[in-house]
Parts: sequence; structure tokens; C-alpha cells
Amino acid sequence: MSLISPWRADFPGILALEAEGQTYLDSAATAQKPQAVLDALLAYLAGGVANVHRAQHLPGERATRAFETTRSKATQWLNAASANEILFTRGSTESLNLLAYGLQHLLSPGEQIVISALEHHANLLPWQQLAKRLDLELVVLPLNDAGDIDLSAAARLISPRTRLLAASQLSNVIGRWQPLAELLALARAQGAITVVDGAQGAVHGRHDLQALGCDFYVCSSHKLYGPDGVGLLYGRSDALSRLQHWQFGGEMVLDADYQDARFRPAPLGFEAGTPAVSAVIALGAALDWLNNLDHAAVAAHETALHGELLAGLASRQGVRLVGEPRLALACFHVDGVHNADLAHLLSEQGIAVRAGHHCAMPLMKGLGLSGAIRVSLGLYNDGDDLQRFFSALDSALELLR
Ligand code: ALA
Repeated sequence: MSLISPWRADFPGILALEAEGQTYLDSAATAQKPQAVLDALLAYLAGGVANVHRAQHLPGERATRAFETTRSKATQWLNAASANEILFTRGSTESLNLLAYGLQHLLSPGEQIVISALEHHANLLPWQQLAKRLDLELVVLPLNDAGDIDLSAAARLISPRTRLLAASQLSNVIGRWQPLAELLALARAQGAITVVDGAQGAVHGRHDLQALGCDFYVCSSHKLYGPDGVGLLYGRSDALSRLQHWQFGGEMVLDADYQDARFRPAPLGFEAGTPAVSAVIALGAALDWLNNLDHAAVAAHETALHGELLAGLASRQGVRLVGEPRLALACFHVDGVHNADLAHLLSEQGIAVRAGHHCAMPLMKGLGLSGAIRVSLGLYNDGDDLQRFFSALDSALELLR
């Protein structure tokens, strides 16, 4: 019997795509939204909007309360110690750029920033450009064959010159939890600042950032079944107090004169201008939706569906996996077939998967690949989606071979 998703009916977007003959298997790029998120967005927008933190009137107070409620929900969801440790940004990319700017005064020429070989461009390029600007060394930790950051290499390469480590929790190409606890311990032993990119990992399972012990953690709402245009930046309070302000404007200031100004501490000091109020409020609904799930049922569904995906790929001749994916996604290429041709034929049959370098060009180059096809799963996907994918894959491969 085909695997059923008990959450599928919560997602109007998935049902609409299905009615159009589309099978959506690209949730690592962005996830569809549950009805509760659409309801929260509409209720706020239709109920009378107002700006936050600056109005004395009732709609302004109501909007501010709803906006700050999401901050409290995110604090609990990530197990941060205080709501002041949660900043709203535009997403993971903006959070990482903010950090690369806001921490630069702590770094000096000749010191090291350490990343890993599997980083998405968002967790590579801000550090690479910072290293070029300040004449720092960018150290790249290699991977083992399965696709995990190699801890013995990390123990050799993380040194007294390491001032910052930035690493992903879960790669958008390989789909394996990375050994963060060990890696962060190596960095902390050298007194380095630690940054975790949770863009892919945040939606899977529950997180305890106090236990993880990182200085900073970033994630994006749109991959958490929330709206796009908003993300979370967690910073432990002592780490946040060292961060330089980066965008200047309304509501981030304590006192301003023509020639000088003093700025608010986090979080408001890092949220200059009007924030994405409606998106933040709807993100609160997405966090509620995630919190209310039966987590054992989620884990069982994710494991079973991913197992079916891997088994189906393994049973097809010439299909090669990238690394050894364990959850959420699988990237693959096929002997003698260009990934763009295959993606085109899959798309013609209504299969929405991602193809190409997945914003991880150095990783792909290191693997000797021009690109790969990625199937990524959301909680709404079911066994029928996979059957449609495999039948389209078989037809496409027959044509291409
Ligand atoms: N980072 C997203 C992905 O991997 C967009 O597709």
C-alpha cells in the first residue's frame, strides 16, 4: 500500500498543484504553506494593519503584540534563553551577511575563518569575501565519503588562529546531519566564534540551541512552512553584545544628532526600518503548526518516505547518489545523462525537482559533477508522489538512453 501523508490536506498549495498535474518534490528550495499560515496572514492583513514598535494607537499595539508573540514562539521553539536573542531578518542569507559584517571588527589579518566543503553559497560567499577584504585565511574542512565533515581533519585544521567557524547543520545537497557537537567543541576549545547554518536543518526535528552551545544560528521561515521574506537569527546574548550594528534607520536608534547617534541593543537595534510584519505574524502560525505535530508520526513518515526514495533510486541502473543521504532529500546523477536534459523531461511530465549545482558550486566541482537532480521531501509528500516521480524518471531515461 502506498504511504499516506496525514498532513497533505492541510496544504492548499499542494492540492492546487496536484489538480494541475504537478508533483512537488522541491521542499528544500521552499516549502508549501499550511492553511493555518494562510489564515494568519489574511486575518492580519484584512483586520487592519499597522506599523510595529512606533504607534500609540490600538492597531499599532495589536500588530506589535502579534509580531512580538512570534519572537516568543521562536524563543521557545529554538530553546533560546531569552526573546532578546531572536532577531528577525529577511532570511538565512541576510542573517549570514549580517554576521559577516557585524563580526568583522573581531578579526585581524592572518587569522582563520573555518567553513566546510559542503556549504551553500550563503554560508560560503559572505565569509570568502570577508576573508578577502581583511586578508584572513579561509580554511575549508573536507568531507568523508558518506558526505560528513571529516572530524579528524577538523581536529588538525582548527587551530589557535581560528577565530570563527561557520558550518551547516544539514546540507542542501547531501542530506545528513553534520557532527556539529564535536565540531563546535573543537572551535570553542580555540576560543572561536561559532555560527550554525540551520537553513535546511531547522524544519526537521526539534532544536535546543542552549544545549548545542553555538554563538549564532540562522534559519529561514519559507522552509519552515512559513511565508518568505523573513528569517531568524539567534545569537546568545554575550555573542550578540559583540555584534556591530549594520543597517541604520528607523526604530534601531536610542538617540540621534546630525553628527552622531547611539543605537539600541539586540534585537531592535538590528531591525532597522519597517520589518516584514505580516510575514513575521504568519511565521508564528507556522511555528504553532510545527509545534502541534505528532513528532513521532513525523519522524516515522519522513523515514519511511525517504527510505522509499532511496530504494527506488538504488533499483535503477546507472543512478548514482551524491553522498549517502539519510533524510529529507537525495541528489543523484545518471551515467551518460545530463542533469539539465533529465530535469527538462521530468518537468514536462509534471515533476518539480531541482537540478543543477544547488548553490553549492565548489562542492559539485569537488565531486567532479556539473550538476545533479535533487528530490526533496515535505511532510505533505506521499508514496503516490514518489510513484509518479519514478514512472516519469523511467520514461525520461528510456528516451535519453
Ligand atoms: N537553498 C535552497 C535550495 O537548496 C534554495 O534549493
